[in-house]
Amino acid sequence: MAKYVGAIDQGTTSTRFMIFDHDGHEVARHQLEHEQIMPEAGWVEHDPHEIWEATQDVVQTAMGRAGITADDLAAIGITNQRETTVVWDRRTGEPYYNAIVWQDTRTDRIASALERDGHADLICRRSGLPPAPYFAGGKLQWILENVDGVRADADAGHAIFGTIDTWLIWWLTGGPDDGLHMTDVTNASRTMLMDLETLAWDDELLAIFDVPRSMLPEIRSSSEVYGSTEAEGPFSGEVRIAGDLGDQHAALVGQVCFEPGQLKNTYGTGNFLVLNTGTEIVRSTHGLLTTVAYQLGDAPAVYALEGSIAVTGSAIQWLRDQLGIIRAAGDSEALAASVDDNGGVSFVPAFSGLFAPYWRSDARGVIAGLSRYNTGAHVARAALEAICYQSRDVVDAMVADADLDLQILRVDGGVTANELCMQIQADVLGVPVSRPVVAETTALGSAYAAGLAVGFWASTDELVANWNESRRWESTSTQEQRDAGHAQWKKAVERTMGWVEV
Ligand code: G3P
Repeated sequence: MAKYVGAIDQGTTSTRFMIFDHDGHEVARHQLEHEQIMPEAGWVEHDPHEIWEATQDVVQTAMGRAGITADDLAAIGITNQRETTVVWDRRTGEPYYNAIVWQDTRTDRIASALERDGHADLICRRSGLPPAPYFAGGKLQWILENVDGVRADADAGHAIFGTIDTWLIWWLTGGPDDGLHMTDVTNASRTMLMDLETLAWDDELLAIFDVPRSMLPEIRSSSEVYGSTEAEGPFSGEVRIAGDLGDQHAALVGQVCFEPGQLKNTYGTGNFLVLNTGTEIVRSTHGLLTTVAYQLGDAPAVYALEGSIAVTGSAIQWLRDQLGIIRAAGDSEALAASVDDNGGVSFVPAFSGLFAPYWRSDARGVIAGLSRYNTGAHVARAALEAICYQSRDVVDAMVADADLDLQILRVDGGVTANELCMQIQADVLGVPVSRPVVAETTALGSAYAAGLAVGFWASTDELVANWNESRRWESTSTQEQRDAGHAQWKKAVERTMGWVEV
């Protein structure tokens, strides 16, 4: 009897493979970073081959560390950075262009033209998404229009599209000739090309983006047996692939938010707050996205409202790599804690424009309120506050859209190791913040989806029983302090807008 389930978690900055036991405890992992290619201001690309190489490496190393073989794995799940777009030749596996990453803003003109041409309402109603450079449809259109030979190869049936889940599953199941060309409902719901109600590619949307249907992967549920890894691949054996979810959707599952009204906030490169709204589609009027939360096999799809924030943890990396005021991301905590407050400084890291709830691709980052008195410590503190205020803006939108009565915020992701940041988050929101024992909820959620499909876990009740709190931060702020801090933040946000022309 196989005792474990594995999860490939392919994120924006790194790829990891994690192995979990039946209690949801981690058995082993390995993780590798990959290059962020930035050929022009606002452009962000990844090398799809590097990602596939890293995936094979992390699988083999983690399996070696755990001392297990393919037979010990009941199934594996895949979870991935969403929206990042790859087009490749199905005959050879050769990409026509680097993967265009979700943060990339080169399609801001495509997005604003959609607004100007009056397509925004239809796109939003049908796909749940406002036209924005963030989503995959515009990136795919850009590749079709700007990369030589792609349009002709697409028409001939050679060039195919995928998000990173699709790319990896295709390789894992055999690649050229044999590879499964598929995605799941959650990843498809980030393209602007899928109808949220029918969960199928939509002809009107395809026509707006001028995307041939033949390029698109088959849309499957998030939890079912899709196929098996090929024996010659990194698992050195056949393992069932039975889970596929965009990373934020996987985190919702990993946080066992299976009830309508349950919310999680994942702190990674960006922050992503996802609120389970049940089997009903809730339309946002306050700048949130409507998205598929997950679909477990034949059960009806569960929907969510999402507040996506482009830059949070990556603002800390920016302090390290571009500004050079810290040596490691973790140092931001001590530096920020060396001052009592932000010293009047607000930092809005709108590097890719502003995402939820503003959706302004004409915004760019600002550090506002500087005086001669300020030091790098104030900027570091303002960066941590930015993570928390951006999350607050999304929570406010959820309260307005869905009558959310927030009693506690479930958090996960790398930045939750930063105690000061989590304390600020509780203070900014005025509610407690709670982190589970397994903070790697993205990988865990993907393992859960795969394990449910093969009966490794009998039901979601078993998963709920696995969830345990490891740490809670109580709010220590007064309403007056919260209002004053938020007002200063909002003033700084105003200053980011209209900075570039789109
Ligand atoms: O929508 C983008 C998101 O899926 C990226 O997540 O964790 O790779 O930053 P992450």
